[in-house]
Amino acid sequence: MTTTYDDAMRRALELAARGPRVGGNPQVGCVLLDDAGTVVAEGWHKGAGTPHAEADALSKVSDARGLTAVVTLEPCNHTGRTGPCAQALIVAGVSRVVYATADPTPTASGGAQTIRDAGIDVIEGVLGHEARAFQHRWLTAARLGRPYVTAKWAASLDGRAAAADGTSQWITGPEARTYIHQLRADNDLIAVGTGTVLADNPSLTARDADGALLPHQPQPVVLGSRAIPAGAALFTHPRGVVTESGDLSDILERLFAQGHRSLFIEGGPTLMAAFIAADLVDEYVVCVAPLLLGGPRVAVDDLGIGTLGDGRRLLLQSAEIFGPDVVITAREEH
Ligand SMILES: NC(=O)c1ccc[n+]([C@@H]2O[C@H](COP(=O)([O-])OP(=O)(O)OC[C@H]3O[C@@H](n4cnc5c(N)ncnc54)[C@H](OP(=O)(O)O)[C@@H]3O)[C@@H](O)[C@H]2O)c1
Repeated sequence: MTTTYDDAMRRALELAARGPRVGGNPQVGCVLLDDAGTVVAEGWHKGAGTPHAEADALSKVSDARGLTAVVTLEPCNHTGRTGPCAQALIVAGVSRVVYATADPTPTASGGAQTIRDAGIDVIEGVLGHEARAFQHRWLTAARLGRPYVTAKWAASLDGRAAAADGTSQWITGPEARTYIHQLRADNDLIAVGTGTVLADNPSLTARDADGALLPHQPQPVVLGSRAIPAGAALFTHPRGVVTESGDLSDILERLFAQGHRSLFIEGGPTLMAAFIAADLVDEYVVCVAPLLLGGPRVAVDDLGIGTLGDGRRLLLQSAEIFGPDVVITAREEH
């Protein structure tokens, strides 16, 4: 059966989704087509240090000469733990490379030009919109040179993150909390401010509804200069705890250089406001409970916004009901 480039790219995106979402590398899929448009091999990237999607697909054919490689991301141009894919495709003798979206990583981009310079036909942008949506988080992190930051908080219907005495566990019910634990497990890092550590003594593990640890645990990061008290629950976290203080942009740059591409911040209001005011949040996940608390403990401290016109308008992604609560997801437009 003849497979169109759109069909092959759709399949490559399915294959890409099999790879891990966490870690430094993108999820990439690759399909090899022969002259007749028949799929002859498939590949995907299974995580840092393993072959890239193109190399994985090429390893499954004895002769790739004349084939078309359909790849979800521009083939990389740099030698990391594995060789550059642009070179691998050239050496293998493919006659055409079709890809969905460019690689914004300064060290990896330029693969398309290298392939073109070798006289191989290159087509860019097939299902580009779908591929960018699929890879939104990784592409944003690569473009900004810092982890993709998701800010999460739980608030009462009147926008409070705690009662007057500082208690906030739990504002939302178990259904929303289970969902949030899945989001924790979908990130490289989880962060809170020292104020939250001192007030709530969180463990910051990602758990299922029965309290069992999920397979991936994000690395906890505590931001601030105050010491974490001896005996804090965080010290029992399976990954240990990292502390950071100083300029938030510098901290994010450092974490990115260590290979982290996603950070989930769970408060509190002081740290949240600092991240937002510094333009360092990409996505918001806000759990709203039908509960009224009143009082001064707002979910986000002052952002220095004096008038409505200066408010930050976000793009609504979803609003889902979990038990008695609503979880709203919105994104910044940058
Ligand atoms: N409902 C929710 O989702 C939720 C979530 C978390 C917390 N809470 C509640 O929030 C309250 C704690 O709030 P909080 O505001 O005190 O805690 P916080 O925002 O977790 O911590 C504030 C601390 O973060 C540190 N920090 C690091 N970088 C910073 C920066 N660039 N700018 C400002 N601060 C920075 C500072 O620590 P140093 O002073 O040590 O330098 C600061 O004092 C508790 O009542 C807790 O229950 C609610």
